[in-house]
Amino acid sequence: MGMRSMMAVVVFCTGTAFAGGDPVADREEMIELAWKRGCFNCHEIDKTIRGPAWVDVAERYRGDDEALERLVVKVRNGGVGNWGDDPMTANRRVPEEDIRTLVGWLLSLEKESDKEVAKDAEEPRKD
Ligand code: HEC
Repeated sequence: MGMRSMMAVVVFCTGTAFAGGDPVADREEMIELAWKRGCFNCHEIDKTIRGPAWVDVAERYRGDDEALERLVVKVRNGGVGNWGDDPMTANRRVPEEDIRTLVGWLLSLEKESDKEVAKDAEEPRKD
């Protein structure tokens, strides 16, 4: 196989991994990446530890079109004051592309409790 077709295969594979639209596979992949990039030393998806729970971050910026760009910069440079007095240290060794991927994903998260409410709303009443 020539170099050119090898490249095509690689691009094709990574393309489908993210655009595949399989939420479970995406979630596993994102969790793996978050561990690899050190985010989960301070964050969890649905629990506040040192940093805010990612579902809470998603909640706060829902509908804010500029949140992604702002947060990519913030995660890269570090910062403090939006959630408390504990700072997020800079993450300059993390490729910006990975930060963008992770922030884009975490902003799409929904709280379990919200999902329950949404599900209840769809359920026909039984009384
Ligand atoms: C050293 C601990 C630490 C690490 C590592 C860390 N964070 Fe944070 N993160 C925090 C803290 C603390 C805050 C709250 C900062 C504040 O109050 O403004 C935060 C806030 C955030 C926010 C919300 C920022 C805002 O202004 O609302 C996002 C998004 C975020 N982190 C994503 C990430 C991602 C993605 C990674 C991995 C690349 C990461 N964090 C790694 C501690 C950390």
